[in-house]
Amino acid sequence: MLTSATTPCCASSSFSWPSSSAASSSTRRRPLILLLHLPPPSVAAVPIPSSITPSASRLRLRDSTMAKAKAIRVHELGGPEVMRWEEVEVGAPKDGEIRIRTTAIGVNFIDVYFRKGVYAAPAMPFTPGMEAVGVVTAVGPGLTGRKVGDVVAYAGNPMGSYAQEQILPASVAVPVPPSVDHKQAASVMLKGMTAHVLLRCVFKVQSGHTVLVHAAAGGVGSLLCQWANALGATVIGTVSNEEKAAQATQDGCHHVIIYTREDVATRVKEITSGKGVNVVYDSVGKDTYKASVECLASRGFLVSFGQSSGKPDPIPMSDLASKSLFLTRPSLMHYTSTRDELLESAGEVFANVANGVLRVRVNHTYPLSEAARAHADLEGRKTLGSIVLIPEMPDEQANSHQQAKERDSNSSLL
Ligand SMILES: NC(=O)c1ccc[n+]([C@@H]2O[C@H](COP(=O)([O-])OP(=O)(O)OC[C@H]3O[C@@H](n4cnc5c(N)ncnc54)[C@H](OP(=O)(O)O)[C@@H]3O)[C@@H](O)[C@H]2O)c1
Repeated sequence: MLTSATTPCCASSSFSWPSSSAASSSTRRRPLILLLHLPPPSVAAVPIPSSITPSASRLRLRDSTMAKAKAIRVHELGGPEVMRWEEVEVGAPKDGEIRIRTTAIGVNFIDVYFRKGVYAAPAMPFTPGMEAVGVVTAVGPGLTGRKVGDVVAYAGNPMGSYAQEQILPASVAVPVPPSVDHKQAASVMLKGMTAHVLLRCVFKVQSGHTVLVHAAAGGVGSLLCQWANALGATVIGTVSNEEKAAQATQDGCHHVIIYTREDVATRVKEITSGKGVNVVYDSVGKDTYKASVECLASRGFLVSFGQSSGKPDPIPMSDLASKSLFLTRPSLMHYTSTRDELLESAGEVFANVANGVLRVRVNHTYPLSEAARAHADLEGRKTLGSIVLIPEMPDEQANSHQQAKERDSNSSLL
């Protein structure tokens, strides 16, 4: 079990990355979990796992003068079909920037909100995506602490990770520990930092708490359940079907409610002997928020952090007054806006992956060019755990086109 001593709140101002001298000091109180495998951010070179190391020929193909790449672009808001696979200008990184060749891209529900216009994209047309792992291919003038070949990950702004290459401010990139492979990192950084912020900062879950997690088999939900269980909480999860219920149970849910056919508030009352839960983590929104309020114990926290079923209606103050409830609508970006907060949150996540507290479920991978299919499956509630897009490199595209041609000509011979 994790204790609050090993998983500090990200708001802690005393956090610093362990230097070699800090690591040798046994008297200083510091978060043990952070002492695991992560180098400080000034250590630039991180070995690339051989399973995903790009071949030399591929690296040569995309040298530092390369200015064009393929990316998904959205020219008009709408369904998954509005995502087009196009050539874009990438250009060279400016001061404080790096260019990465993406190797694995995390798909998040927020990408759907931007594509549909639930949230406004900064410009039209735009490239969606807020999470990627990649290899640095160029660094801006004068930048220190990053170099070509580094493996880095980012989650959040700037939008635009559904691309073979992307320019990023160096300040948003964190090193990926060698123990975590690229697909895992792309599927866990944004979702895992969200889980960290929700469980350790927004409401600090402790042993003895009872928590309710909606969409418990989803990308964020799976990690929330595992981490809350590790913190010693009793975890109740809601899911839409049996397959998802089985995963939620494996992920540490002590009780699973199939909310497509069971009444959530009634079941939670039964499970908690009428007391209710200390906190509800609600990312479903419209379809669940009323039951979420009903499920809370006196002085409970409703943490509304998403709206996969639609925007929840406003909650009248009187509904909070009846049990002295707390309501918050957190965004990951506001809890990782400083470099220290970002490194602490990412550090907690990668350390928990490395030490086995979090099992990363990369259940679905798609070629980047088929991002529309990934979105359709995510919105259609067909996915469990995380979704990752894998960019095809130009030589691979050429090969796959050649193979497709050969298949076609062979089939015409049959
Ligand atoms: N506030 C933040 O900073 C922050 C950060 C990250 C993510 N989020 C939010 O966290 C949520 C989960 O994100 P994720 O990327 O991990 O997605 P996800 O949970 O893997 O996918 C969404 C899940 O929501 C459930 N759902 C219920 N009603 C739905 C509906 N009408 N349409 C689609 N799905 C529905 C489905 O699970 P069932 O089939 O089991 O119902 C579905 O699998 C999203 O709402 C996202 O916006 C918020």
